[in-house]
Amino acid sequence: MATELIVAVDVPNLEQASRVLDQLADSVRWFKVGLQLFTASGPGVVREIRARGGKVFLDLKFYDIPNTVAGAAQSAAALGVEMFNVHVSGGEAMMRAAMEGGAQTTGARPLVIGVTILTSQPATEADVLKLARSAKTSGLDGVVCSAREAVTLKRELGADFKLVCPGIRPAWSEKGDQNRIVTPRDAVKAGADYIVVGRPILAAANPAEAAKRVMEEMHGAY
Ligand code: C5P
Repeated sequence: MATELIVAVDVPNLEQASRVLDQLADSVRWFKVGLQLFTASGPGVVREIRARGGKVFLDLKFYDIPNTVAGAAQSAAALGVEMFNVHVSGGEAMMRAAMEGGAQTTGARPLVIGVTILTSQPATEADVLKLARSAKTSGLDGVVCSAREAVTLKRELGADFKLVCPGIRPAWSEKGDQNRIVTPRDAVKAGADYIVVGRPILAAANPAEAAKRVMEEMHGAY
């Protein structure tokens, strides 16, 4: 599968999200809805993205007792999101509950992705690998990771285990607060299945043009 671009719609409300979609829905297939936007707009933003033909990565990082996470997963699947995530540190029973809840849908089952260790916390590659293994053993479809870890994770966990990589910066964009950045081209070469890009596209003078440049750079990596 060719690497997919996911644009992080990190804006505070539905009005601003609609503006982003006006600019990008024709060219970008995947959008990430995170805590800020979902808390402000609720499921309406997911419906709007889907109505415009987009796919949704619901980035709410579920972490609770298995029964509660199963319910949240079922709600996410009912909304029609194509991907959502849970904290691997919630444990194997919680991850299995997320898989089972997500499968309770008449439509396609969403991909369930594990969050290993937040980049704001200290961690070694061995720590990340251990948690990623636990995600795989528990039946998850993949993990969020830095593209710098992608080669090792693909080698250890197999080609089918999906890697979703944020911390991406094209050479022409501002670094912002991301430290261990990787270019779209290098992320594709490292084996990322999805790259998540926010500010380099959203804050560009012309977001559609910026998205196009990122996608061209991705295609140039093959
Ligand atoms: O604007 P930027 O491209 O840095 O956005 C990256 C997105 O990926 C943000 O929504 C951020 O929350 C998310 N993310 C991240 N680093 C992680 C996990 C998620 O930047 N380790």
